[in-house]
Amino acid sequence: MTRAGAMVLFGITGDLAYKMVLPALYRLTADGVLDLPIVGVAKTDLDLAGLRERARQACGGATDAAFEKFAGNLRLVAGDYREERTFAAIRDEVAGAGFLVHYLAVPPALFGTVAQGLAGAGLHREARLVVEKPFGHDLASARELNAELLKYFDEEHLRRVDHFLGKEPVEDLIVFRLGNMLLEPIWNRNYVRNVQITMAEDFDVADRGAFYDANGTIRDVVQNHLMQLLAILAMDAPPSKDARAFIDEKWRVLRAVQDITPSAVVRGQYDGYQDTEGVRPGSTTETFVAMRAAIDNWRWAGVPFYIRSGKALPTTDLEVVAELRTPPVTLFHGELSPNLIRFRLQPDAGVTFDLLAKEPGKDATRPVPVSVDFTKVLGPMEAAYQRILTDAVTGEPRRFVRFDLAEESWRIVQPVLDLPEPPLPYAKGTWGPEAAAKMVRWHEISTTFD
Ligand code: BG6
Repeated sequence: MTRAGAMVLFGITGDLAYKMVLPALYRLTADGVLDLPIVGVAKTDLDLAGLRERARQACGGATDAAFEKFAGNLRLVAGDYREERTFAAIRDEVAGAGFLVHYLAVPPALFGTVAQGLAGAGLHREARLVVEKPFGHDLASARELNAELLKYFDEEHLRRVDHFLGKEPVEDLIVFRLGNMLLEPIWNRNYVRNVQITMAEDFDVADRGAFYDANGTIRDVVQNHLMQLLAILAMDAPPSKDARAFIDEKWRVLRAVQDITPSAVVRGQYDGYQDTEGVRPGSTTETFVAMRAAIDNWRWAGVPFYIRSGKALPTTDLEVVAELRTPPVTLFHGELSPNLIRFRLQPDAGVTFDLLAKEPGKDATRPVPVSVDFTKVLGPMEAAYQRILTDAVTGEPRRFVRFDLAEESWRIVQPVLDLPEPPLPYAKGTWGPEAAAKMVRWHEISTTFD
C-alpha cells in the first residue's frame, strides 16, 4: 500500500463530485486527514477560480481556513478525455508528486478511455485507479470492463467503489456479530429462522429517470450495496485481521449464495413512474424488488434471506431483522412471538432486541424492545465518502469491491435481470405490490429509537 502524493479527480465538475466527493475532501482537510494536491479534470469552461467557487458552493458556502487550504490544493485541467494533450497537461500538473491516485467520478462508459489515456501518458505506472459504480451492466459486461482496465492497471492497483462499504454502521456489523459472544454462537441455521434486509427510500427517481430506467432496482442497489451487506451479515470469521482475509471470507459466502430464480422475485413499479422524464414509454424497469436468497453452506442452509428495496416507499430506512426460532415448548399464555435482532443502519445506527417478557399482573407474555442508539451512546459516525476517499489515498483495500466479489454478485442476480414480464404496479408510499407482502411475514421496521 503506497500513500498517494496527489489525487487526480476526473469528473470534478460533475454531480457526484459536487454532492459527495468535494464535501468529503473538504472535511478530510478540515480534520487534518488529507492535505495533497487535487488535480480536477473535466471538459469545462470554468477556470481555476471558477472551480474553486463551485467547490465552495459544494461545501455549503464554506469560508473557513480549512476551506481555503482545500481550495488552495485544487488544480484544474480542462480537456477532453479522448485527447492526448489532456493527459500531457495532467502529467505537468502532477510532476514530482510521487505516487498518484486517479479517482474516476465519471460515467462508466468512460472508464476505459480514461485508463487508456493515463497509460498513454505513463500515468498508470506509479498509480492506483479508483472507479465509481456501476461496474458493468451484467456479468458479461463487468468481465469485459475488468479485462479492459487490467490492460493498464493490475488488481492490486484497482479499486471499485461501493459507498455502502464506507458506511460505519455496515462495517460495524462485523464487530457486533463477532465481538459479542452473546450473539456469535446463535448466528446460524440452528437459531435463525430467517433474515430480512430492507433498504427503503421514500423518494422517487426524480430527475434520474434516464439513468434509473436503464438500470432498475436490482442493478442500482441489490447487485452492489445489498449483496455486500449480505456478505458482511453472513460471512464466517476471517482467519486473520488483514484486508485480504476479510475480503476472501466475503467472497466465500457469496460463492455459496444460489442464483436467484425468477420465482423467488417480486418486481414492482410505482404508479406514475412512466411519466418521469427520461423513462421509456412502456418501460418494464422495476422501481421495487423483493427477493429470497438462499445460502447453501454449513452455517445457513435452509435459512431464507429476504431482500427488499425500492423507491417511493413509506420511509427511508436501512434495516436488517433476524428472526430467531421460537422455544420448543410453550410454558406461558399468549403468543410466543420470536425474538428479533434488529440492526438499524440508516438513517441512525443501533441495535434492538425484541425479547419476550411477562406482562405484570397477568399470566401472559409480551415482546419488549431492548434498544441502543449507537449515535447517542458512541457519538457521530464518519460519512461514507470520507472513509472511501481516505482509503483511496492510503491504498487500504478493505472497503472496496475486489473483482471476484463483483463477479459473484452479478452471477447471483443475473437470472433476474431484464425479466420480460412487466413489474407489478404499486401506489407511491406503500410497501410495493401485494405479492411482495405475501412472500414472508415482514417485520415492521423500527423507524426511530424514540
Ligand atoms: C446509490 C443509488 O448507489 O445509492 C441510489 O444509485 C440510492 O439510487 C443510493 O438512492 C443510496 O445511498 P445512500 O447512501 O443515500 O443510502
